[in-house]
Amino acid sequence: MKKVLIVYWSSSGNTETMAKSVAKGVTDGGGEAILKTPEAGLAELVKSADALAFGSPAMGDELIEEDEMEPFIASLGADILKDKPLGLFGSYDWGDGQWMRSWTDRMKGLGAKLDGEGIIAQLVPGEAELAKCSELGKRLAT
Ligand SMILES: Cc1cc2nc3c(=O)[nH]c(=O)nc-3n(C[C@H](O)[C@H](O)[C@H](O)COP(=O)(O)O)c2cc1C
Repeated sequence: MKKVLIVYWSSSGNTETMAKSVAKGVTDGGGEAILKTPEAGLAELVKSADALAFGSPAMGDELIEEDEMEPFIASLGADILKDKPLGLFGSYDWGDGQWMRSWTDRMKGLGAKLDGEGIIAQLVPGEAELAKCSELGKRLAT
């Protein structure tokens, strides 16, 4: 059974809703979903996971959330991410998704095997976006 680690940050719940859909997709796909918010000691879980999914809303000025998500992401080097299947997702509001393009490029630069270009939802994710999250979870679980 594939172990899929989902790490997300969410303030008003939009990215959290997406994270839960990814987790449901993992479970539906026969995998084990581990849902976490950024915290110390996740490095071992990241290493041992078969696949990863990370979620953050656009914050600051087209950045991932800076106080918790950014330090977590910055702690992951190419040694951990190289060839690891990874999906990104998150909610935004007034931008054009630049934060997700930058984040995707950054993770690709570390050698992660990106699944798609990142799933984005403007504010509250709709059915179509949640279906994409669930499909991502299924792919990561198989
Ligand atoms: C401090 C702050 C900064 C934000 N910066 C951006 C931004 O740069 N671009 C954007 O599209 N949305 C931005 N947003 C909007 C959030 O990404 C949006 O409200 C999102 O739905 C929050 O997701 P959450 O419910 O998972 O916390 C910002 C919101 C806050 C509170």
